[in-house]
Amino acid sequence: MIGIKGGTHLKSIIIYYSYGGNTKRIANMIHDKTGYDIVEIKPVVPYTSDYQKLVDEEENKMHQEEVVEIEPISVDLNNYDAIILGTPIWWYTMTPPIRTFLKNNDLSGKVIVPFATNGGWLGSTFDDIKKYAPNSNILNPISIKFNGSDLAISQDELNEWILKL
Ligand SMILES: Cc1cc2nc3c(=O)[nH]c(=O)nc-3n(C[C@H](O)[C@H](O)[C@H](O)COP(=O)(O)O)c2cc1C
Repeated sequence: MIGIKGGTHLKSIIIYYSYGGNTKRIANMIHDKTGYDIVEIKPVVPYTSDYQKLVDEEENKMHQEEVVEIEPISVDLNNYDAIILGTPIWWYTMTPPIRTFLKNNDLSGKVIVPFATNGGWLGSTFDDIKKYAPNSNILNPISIKFNGSDLAISQDELNEWILKL
């Protein structure tokens, strides 16, 4: 992406978590259009495959900011200036695996461009990302609404955002 100082090319990486595939689909779309490296965050203990159970169980856990361990990632983040960070929204905020990623890594001085897939209830997701990455520069966050597994914002709007990355 182009740096905020103008003209400087920042080295960028796409990092995302996806439970049901929506966020993965967007991450892959960004990867296809930009060629940036891409890394999927995976919890050490996978979530239940029962969607309704997950929704019910997570409500309480999310309020307690439950800590979920994630698998180590295979890249050295020191080599990147910008992180395109993808998460589904769970109970009005980012998912626990992405919260763990932000807690475990010092992203001071880096640019973070968050994208959050959701069903229409954004909550405090982007403010919370800022809270967990207080010394990063959060730029151009985008909320990407889905109806189930159907993209509910226009592909044009998405492409316009991707062009800025
Ligand atoms: C546990 C859970 C909680 C959710 N909470 C919200 C929410 O607060 N707001 C919202 O708009 N969508 C919510 N959703 C819907 C997801 O954010 C949406 O379907 C998202 O695109 C899923 O991404 P994924 O397929 O990459 O996992 C929730 C889904 C789950 C499973």
